[in-house]
Amino acid sequence: MMTKEEKYQALLPQIEGLVAGEPDLIAKMANVAALLHEEFGFWWTGFYRVVGDELVLGPFQGPIACIRIAYGRGVCGTAWQRGETVIVPNVHEFPGHIACSSATNSEIVVPIVSGGTVIAVLDIDSTDYGTFDDTDRHYLEQMVKGMG
Ligand code: SME
Repeated sequence: MMTKEEKYQALLPQIEGLVAGEPDLIAKMANVAALLHEEFGFWWTGFYRVVGDELVLGPFQGPIACIRIAYGRGVCGTAWQRGETVIVPNVHEFPGHIACSSATNSEIVVPIVSGGTVIAVLDIDSTDYGTFDDTDRHYLEQMVKGMG
């Protein structure tokens, strides 16, 4: 059985292959969400794009989700505001968490930066508590680097 780290290492070149040379952000988001979701079996895996002063739902895999999230709201809006990855081991303890699905118990949100500005976020939800740690942060940040 592969460790999480080995899984990410195996996926990294695949993700890089999916995003390299493709200028269309939506297309890249669609394939990256599908690959991560399929490989790890997360509950919800997807993207929100910065559109004006809100985050707007982008390509995702999993159950239907909230469409618009304000700056600074929830885990996604907080990651956008801080410009850094936010890991939440227990979403029920995160002030202002937006419960798109009551099955979600932990979450990670990774900003995608282009030209020094956050243009989108990658949001992954798990039904387990404490699913995400610095290994996820490290590899997911690397994976989205080529997307912006
Ligand atoms: N829980 C997120 C909202 C997005 S859904 O989980 C897909 C948040 O608090 O930002």
